[in-house]
Amino acid sequence: MTKIHIINGPNLGRLGRRQPEIYGKQTWNDIMDDLRQGFPQALLEDFQSNHEGALIDYIESLEDRAANGLVINPGALTHQSYALRDALAALSIPVIEVHLSNVHARESFRAQSLTAPVCVGQISGLGADGYRLAIGYLLRQGEGNV
Ligand code: DQA
Repeated sequence: MTKIHIINGPNLGRLGRRQPEIYGKQTWNDIMDDLRQGFPQALLEDFQSNHEGALIDYIESLEDRAANGLVINPGALTHQSYALRDALAALSIPVIEVHLSNVHARESFRAQSLTAPVCVGQISGLGADGYRLAIGYLLRQGEGNV
């Protein structure tokens, strides 16, 4: 079974309560329930941390966990973490970056992503659908060999 990991960075544990006008009203549990229902053919494992080092430790463990692909919303670390970028660059599995909000339509500091250049692609501004589209893409690529 294709195993896809989904990582959320700082402040994304408070989805549903955090600025719902920007990030939506669904909690992460609501979103995960929908994803698991939508992709019964995949094994979806999620992880969230507010700590850069914990995120990097988890990313480093992915190959031992036999992951086939990674979807990551690095939160604000997108715009500031060279360390997270290096950890993603070292992975041999495909990585898709997702943002709930349109990072190009907000404060100018959000338009720069340090992490997107080491990902297959970036999805931004489509809300929770971004996770759905990223997982669908990874599964289609993996019909055979993600
Ligand atoms: C975010 C966008 C980031 O700029 C912000 O710091 C977040 C959430 C998004 O999903 O839209 O924490 O990654």
